[in-house]
Amino acid sequence: MQFQGKKGLILGVANENSIAWAIAKEIMEAGGTCGFTHLPDPPNAERQKNRLRVSKLTDKYENAAFLMPMDAQKDEDIKAVFDATAEKFGKIDFVLHSMAFADRDDLNKDTIFTSRAGFALAMDVSVYTLLACAGAAKPIMNEGGSIAAMTYFGGEKCVPGYNVMGVCKAALEAAVRYAAYDLGPSGIRVNALSAGPVRTLAGRAAGVDEMLKLYDRMAPLGRNITHQEVGRTGAFLLSEMSDGITGEILHVDGGYNAMGSPGRLLDDLK
Ligand SMILES: NC(=O)c1ccc[n+]([C@@H]2O[C@H](COP(=O)([O-])OP(=O)(O)OC[C@H]3O[C@@H](n4cnc5c(N)ncnc54)[C@H](O)[C@@H]3O)[C@@H](O)[C@H]2O)c1
Repeated sequence: MQFQGKKGLILGVANENSIAWAIAKEIMEAGGTCGFTHLPDPPNAERQKNRLRVSKLTDKYENAAFLMPMDAQKDEDIKAVFDATAEKFGKIDFVLHSMAFADRDDLNKDTIFTSRAGFALAMDVSVYTLLACAGAAKPIMNEGGSIAAMTYFGGEKCVPGYNVMGVCKAALEAAVRYAAYDLGPSGIRVNALSAGPVRTLAGRAAGVDEMLKLYDRMAPLGRNITHQEVGRTGAFLLSEMSDGITGEILHVDGGYNAMGSPGRLLDDLK
């Protein structure tokens, strides 16, 4: 993969386990330059914990060009980040959207009992922000640029426990297709990577620990996927190597989504 001379934004690093960090590392190690955001810390907090968790990672990379706070629920924060990006980089080549949130109370409920406010919050952070960022990226992206989002199989089929986030991922995948259509004439591609379970902050909240065993037994590869595998495919989608692909949902799940029966798990059930 070649990222020499390429510049872009990575949205969604919380710590070293974040999928966004796995993808950013691949890009930076291939010569790309990245700007990063972190969730804002409370203004009067003595220790800027969110910033520190990310700066600890980015400080080690010369081609991590900047780190800014961004609450993606705030239009003014998104604008400030894209304005600063244009100022620092001029035109950009890639944007990674790797952000999602749902209130734990809502995630733990049967989907039919999701609160109205919780539904709006989850859809706002996990779906609307992709559209907002794609719109903000359009004027500052080079032709041939690429936007990628992170999704999960629970948006295609019912995965009990994934609940309201499954509804969000279905909407996110639709948003990918519509954004791909809107940005196609500008030569900008929009895709999503559908990852199998990976141990991260958001993953744990969405029930990853229980899913790992299931994938291990059910996926054709007979194992779970790694951060590095997601990192490489994420970087691929954001690179020129994937130049004919847009509006696509690409699975990095050991083949789990291809199964129509529990497969080898049946041996355990027998
Ligand atoms: N972990 C998995 O198993 C898995 C599988 C498939 C898809 N995904 C998706 O990957 C993406 C990244 O999640 P992750 O697993 O790396 O966990 P993570 O907790 O490391 O990343 C989630 C990110 O969302 C950010 N975020 C939440 N609310 C925000 C807001 N209002 N403004 C700005 N940023 C906000 C958090 O700060 C964090 O950086 C998510 O879309 C998630 O749904 C995760």
